[in-house]
Amino acid sequence: MGAVADVVLGFADYRAPAQRLAIALGVAYAEVDVHRFPDGESRVRLPTPVPPRVLFCRSLDRPNDKLVELLFAAATARELGAEALALVAPYLCYMRQDKAFHPGEAVSQRIIGRELARCFDTVVTVDPHLHRTPVLADAVPVPRALALSAAEPLAARLAAREDAPLLLGPDEESAQWVEAIADRAGLDHAVAAKTRSGDRAVVIELPAVPLAGRSVVLVDDVASTGRTLAEACRALRAAGAARVDVAVTHALFAGDALAVLAEAGVGEVLSTDSILHESNAVELAPLLAAALAEV
Ligand code: R5P
Repeated sequence: MGAVADVVLGFADYRAPAQRLAIALGVAYAEVDVHRFPDGESRVRLPTPVPPRVLFCRSLDRPNDKLVELLFAAATARELGAEALALVAPYLCYMRQDKAFHPGEAVSQRIIGRELARCFDTVVTVDPHLHRTPVLADAVPVPRALALSAAEPLAARLAAREDAPLLLGPDEESAQWVEAIADRAGLDHAVAAKTRSGDRAVVIELPAVPLAGRSVVLVDDVASTGRTLAEACRALRAAGAARVDVAVTHALFAGDALAVLAEAGVGEVLSTDSILHESNAVELAPLLAAALAEV
C-alpha cells in the first residue's frame, strides 16, 4: 500500500469491517487467532512473519477481554519485529468515564488511554465520547491520535429522506453530533435536556420547538441501554411527532435496548458499522481509509 501499514490484522469478531478497511487501503488482511480457554484466559497468536508496519483493526465494544487480547497482540507484534503499530478502533471504550464522579472511582478514560499509548504509535477512532476532554490526544497520548467524525456519512443517509426530519439530540452532550449532521444534511435540529438518575433511569425535557405532525430523527453518538432514546421518543410521541427514528454512530444496544425502543414507538434504527449490529446502515471504511491515507 502506500504509507500507512503493510498489513491489516483483524479479529474474528470484527472481521467484515476490518476486511473492508484493508480493501479500501489496498493492503493485505490477516487475522489474529484468539483461543478462549475454559477458564476464561485467552491465547493470542499472530500470523507470522510480522511485517514492519502493522495496523490492528478491532472495535472495542464489550471491551474487557478484547483489551487484554489487543495488548497481547501489540506486544507480540513488537517482539516479532514490528516497528510501527497503529490501532483502528472505530468504537473506543471507556471514553465516557473521564472523571471520578464519586470519591475512589477509577478514571478509566485516562487509564485505558495510557495503556493504549504504551502499545501503539497511532490510534484512530470515530466519534469518541470526549465530554470534558477537549481532544483525543489528551485521553490517548500517542504521537498520532485521530478522532474522526461519522457526521458526513450519517448526514448523507439522512439527507436522502424525503420528509426532511427534524434532528433532535436527546441531551446537551449530543449537541456536537446533531449540529454537525444537521449542518451537512441541511436539516433543522434541536437539543433536549436529560437528567439521569441511574443506568436505566432518565428523564427527558423536550425543547420548545413545533413537533406536532413532524418526522423526527433522534441523533446520538452512542446508545447503550436505549433508555435515553426511548424516553425521548415517548416525549416526542406525546408531543404529537408523526414518526420517530434513531440514528447513532455506535450501536452498543445492551440487553433489551432494541425491544425498549420498539415499545417506546421508535421506527427505524440506523447506525454505523463501528460496532457490528443489525441496525448497521453506514460503512465507515471509506472515512477511515481516507484519514489513514493522510497519516
Ligand atoms: C451520553 O451522554 C451518551 O451520549 C448517550 O446519550 C448515553 O450513553 C446513552 O445511554 P443509554 O442508551 O444507556 O441511555
